[in-house]
Amino acid sequence: MQSVRLNFALETGAFALPEAGQLAVFRPRAGDDLSALPKDRVQVISGFKPDVDHFAKAGFAVATVAAPAAAALVCLPRAKAEARALLAAAVAAVPAGATVIVDGQKTDGVDAIYKDLRARVAVTEAVAKAHGKIFAFPAASLPEEWVAVPAVVEGFTTAPGVFSADGVDRGSALLAAALPAKLPSRVVDLGAGWGYLSHHILQRDGVKELHLVEAEAAALDCARLNVTDPRAQFHWADATLWQVPHLAGAVVCNPPFHTGREADPMLGVAFLRAAARMLAPDGTLWLVANRHLPYDLPLRALFREIEEVGGDTAFRVIRAAYPDRRKGA
Ligand SMILES: C[S@@+](CC[C@H](N)C(=O)[O-])C[C@H]1O[C@@H](n2cnc3c(N)ncnc32)[C@H](O)[C@@H]1O
Repeated sequence: MQSVRLNFALETGAFALPEAGQLAVFRPRAGDDLSALPKDRVQVISGFKPDVDHFAKAGFAVATVAAPAAAALVCLPRAKAEARALLAAAVAAVPAGATVIVDGQKTDGVDAIYKDLRARVAVTEAVAKAHGKIFAFPAASLPEEWVAVPAVVEGFTTAPGVFSADGVDRGSALLAAALPAKLPSRVVDLGAGWGYLSHHILQRDGVKELHLVEAEAAALDCARLNVTDPRAQFHWADATLWQVPHLAGAVVCNPPFHTGREADPMLGVAFLRAAARMLAPDGTLWLVANRHLPYDLPLRALFREIEEVGGDTAFRVIRAAYPDRRKGA
């Protein structure tokens, strides 16, 4: 969301905000500037915990599901199915004919969504600025298939926009295959997504308690359906801040390396650091990562024993044991 774009569109009269009533702002990311909007009338709608915490701290009302509003603003994500689902949710949150504003970067596919909508509803001219576009349309029904409904993929429930919504991730499959037959009693699945790794962790001997830590509410909702074992505990949390109730014997992780739209290997490194902090002194991190990701130095700084135990040409599976607290874990 670029306030410069929104301000420009409002100043040039491309569309207008209603003078009263709530404005539902769908899926802004931490760092997006909402200063062009009247804060006391804005409700931020997001299921991503770090963004939720960011906007709550900045004084915005925040919810995972929109309350009825006078107008809506959708900050487009890159995934088309998720973008369509947000548009459908925005239309559902406002009265028929109310203004729905759509803002997006070119790199997030705003042109394709504009075309998509123009074929169906009365969109305004798009205002182009700051490498993106903003436009509006009067809320009108959108195709039913745009509404976010869970899908069943390879026997698991997934949802639009969650990681590997269309099928099991290859890296995660390699990690699951490399897990030992027996795991310690306390295990953490860090960045658990819709629960693929947890499903496999619970098939190993020895596990008494499994913590699924995931920032994306929609993914965790799917995980609750995919992992019904009573040993599983679900935590909607930022993994880099989450406090483990008791030190764990193992952390299993396919770390994210994107923050919002940008590649961010430092997020992966923050996951490694968090994993080391959660582990008992003899604990083990089971990790999968793209081979090109720069995890060697941080791993060596955080663990005393590091071994590649699986993978393929694109991914490596790593066992990193004995977190070294003196070195920063
Ligand atoms: C590479 S995916 C792996 C998902 C799942 N473990 C799997 O193997 O299919 C990384 C996951 O981390 C989640 N994630 C991203 N940032 C996070 C954060 N700060 N805290 C917790 N989870 C986060 C993403 O939503 C995503 O589900």
